[in-house]
Amino acid sequence: MKIVAPAKINLGLQVFGRRPDGYHDLESILQQISLSDCLTFQPAQSPGWRFKCSHPQLGGTDNLVCRAARMLEEITGKELPGVTITLFKNIPPGSGLGGGSSDAAAALQGLNIFWRLGLSPQELAGLGAGLGSDIPFCLEGGTALATGRGEKITSLTPLPFFWVVLALPPRLSISTASVYGSLGRNIPSVRPLGILREAISRGDREGILNWFCVEQVNSLQPPVLARYPRLRLLQRRMSELGLKPAMSGSGPAFFALTGSYLLSRRAALALQVEGYRAILCWTVQKTATSRY
Ligand code: C5P
Repeated sequence: MKIVAPAKINLGLQVFGRRPDGYHDLESILQQISLSDCLTFQPAQSPGWRFKCSHPQLGGTDNLVCRAARMLEEITGKELPGVTITLFKNIPPGSGLGGGSSDAAAALQGLNIFWRLGLSPQELAGLGAGLGSDIPFCLEGGTALATGRGEKITSLTPLPFFWVVLALPPRLSISTASVYGSLGRNIPSVRPLGILREAISRGDREGILNWFCVEQVNSLQPPVLARYPRLRLLQRRMSELGLKPAMSGSGPAFFALTGSYLLSRRAALALQVEGYRAILCWTVQKTATSRY
């Protein structure tokens, strides 16, 4: 069995404030994109699970995939059929594109099927939220509004198709905890997310693109740009190439939506030539066919 684990971008992210449990209350509109990791599940002779990963630094037992497998093992409390889980990594780790969360969501879904556990989508979302705030969204997919610490999901009208140019400097990954940890009391405000939400519900492509005409779409972007001058350069280069860039999550990946394949391809190629890691992908809708 093979399960696709798509990356996400935050079309908008407003952080409100720190909560007593150390997390931050937020509101975000999330969108799945075609850039994906892939997990395979193969029967194995001896009971229980083992894990392999195509990325040498992510093959340890602290990987969220292993934590998801351990969590399912613990709640069932019995010996489960042998399975080898292999993670093929494409999404840059520590980039703000939700790769680890999506892998964990795919592991929960895959093992629920492989081990015939019969857990409902709600039960999986509850377990996922315990592992990471973005995991319930990754289980749900498509276009959604996230509230609370990011774990409360409301599906939205699917976003119309857009090309997505992703770019990040090579060898830069940022810890989400460090970005949230650096937020003081004056958390940057973004434009009201209702504006974007309404444009999405109308299927208004121009309205959606206009959302990105101002910089205030992600509360975490100003503090991250202040800390990483390399990212300010990247943001400027993307603008010069005719894009309207915004940071995804806690960065460092920047993205831009466009309606033009030619513009997107030209920009992605130019950024690659300049040494950035640039990827051309597209928005995806929620499907029931991500499993083979
Ligand atoms: O939930 P997740 O494990 O992905 O979060 C990683 C870290 O990011 C948390 O430990 C916390 O420090 C920070 N965070 C936060 N508020 C959120 C989400 C994450 O402070 N809403």
